[in-house]
Amino acid sequence: MVDIDTLEKFSLDEGLNFIANQFPGKVVFSSSFGQEDQVITHAIFKNSVSEGSLDIKVFTLDTGRLFQETYELMDRTRARYKQPIETYFPNTERVQNLVTEKGFNSFYESIENRKECCGIRKIEPLKRALAGAEVWITGLRAEQSDNRNDMKIWEWDGGNNVWKYNPLIHWTYEQMLEHIATNRIPDNALHRKGFISIGCLPCTRAIEPGEHPRAGRWWWEESKKECGLHQVS
Ligand code: ADX
Ligand code: SF4
Repeated sequence: MVDIDTLEKFSLDEGLNFIANQFPGKVVFSSSFGQEDQVITHAIFKNSVSEGSLDIKVFTLDTGRLFQETYELMDRTRARYKQPIETYFPNTERVQNLVTEKGFNSFYESIENRKECCGIRKIEPLKRALAGAEVWITGLRAEQSDNRNDMKIWEWDGGNNVWKYNPLIHWTYEQMLEHIATNRIPDNALHRKGFISIGCLPCTRAIEPGEHPRAGRWWWEESKKECGLHQVS
């Protein structure tokens, strides 16, 4: 069993080791190649052969609408760690039907359309990626938004039938940046161009100084700014 208080006391490396040993072959980590995810990827793969890597499947959801800079980062990450990262694509027929019926940019027209696109390009592939897993590791941080403030380091995700392990939930933005710099962890070139939280290209913009870090996501919407991967109350 996993005791939250114990998990809270572990360092990132200790926590990942502990969970990987508790649930052998049943732990997966989803990376969008954001800075949080790069910190976790680094901890899982490490760059020294002697330290080895953990028994955790790393996967990403390629929506087909990502930034070129994100694809470049994917390749730099593969080159650096030389470890497998599984890529899940949306169901071809569902994307074909969507764009045939509603065009390529239907997400700007309504929240329903936007959720439909996220459903096809992210949520359905996520279900496939999580199949058979008992623990899903994410890069969520409480600081990112009010919705995420209540999230725990370890929580049950009834919608996906898995335990969620959010090892960076209490990390601050500054702490994360320092960790990235100290360990020379590769990150997205867009972070030097005013982007903080990065998703799909048509749904992400750079932010101005003082704006909320997630203000650039689905910026045209008055919504909770979540795509549905993570349940919010
Ligand atoms: S989102 O819900 O707004 O898109 P966000 O970009 O903040 O999520 O990322 C939060 C966590 O969700 C990431 O740390 C990662 O674990 C997961 N995630 C988000 N997008 C993807 C993706 N395209 N592929 C894999 N994991 C993702
Ligand atoms: Fe579609 Fe935008 Fe959602 Fe990406 S973020 S899946 S482009 S609606």
